[in-house]
Amino acid sequence: MINVQIYRYHPEYDTAPYMQSKTLPEEFRKRMVLDALQYLREEDPTLAYRRSCREGVCGSDGMNINGKNWLACIKPVADALGTSNTLVIRPLPGMPVIRDLVVDQSLFFSHYEKIKPWLINDDPAPAIERLQTPEQRKQLDGLYECILCGCCTSQCPSWWWNPEKYRGPSALLQSLRFLLDSRDRGRIERMDGLQDPFSVFRCRSIGNCTWVCPKGLNPMGAIGRIRLELMKEST
Ligand code: FES
Repeated sequence: MINVQIYRYHPEYDTAPYMQSKTLPEEFRKRMVLDALQYLREEDPTLAYRRSCREGVCGSDGMNINGKNWLACIKPVADALGTSNTLVIRPLPGMPVIRDLVVDQSLFFSHYEKIKPWLINDDPAPAIERLQTPEQRKQLDGLYECILCGCCTSQCPSWWWNPEKYRGPSALLQSLRFLLDSRDRGRIERMDGLQDPFSVFRCRSIGNCTWVCPKGLNPMGAIGRIRLELMKEST
């Protein structure tokens, strides 16, 4: 049997969060953590977590699995266990818990909104579409793939320390995605929104963001590139 320790908290019934002990049949070593959660939920329908696509696309099942943020649907149980026989599942750290593994991501998404995640371009619309060269399009690789699961921002100590003011790695990766888009005309206002001492410069290059990104992206590299762009602006 595989041991499971799972974070439980129901604000209407529990005075404090607690870790609940469960077990899984051995065969779950070959399955994903989300399969294990679904099995446990069949035993106890009060267990709450988010999920939707089951394919690592929607970003809704980010959680902390044996100390590292991951998407439960694409994290194999055997991989999460390593040499241990206990699966420890907690909600994403640094975000208020609503219930069990469900966290409140309002602040996370408010930072995303602040970076203006849309093309700013008042040029008259062309007849068909705004074209890019293959080279211009290539600039967006490694950025557009972010699915906003929150794993990187939730594992970032700089964000834990200044969650209201520091944008966090996910929002900054998205910010670079628009700064580098050849169709965007909003560079000046985007850069103005990042010049203060907190939005970008509170990053301490710890690198947890890149360590945990389940899509293999490099938010720390993106933040470095933004810093470089900001320095170019100020010289
Ligand atoms: Fe959609 Fe895991 S359920 S990313």
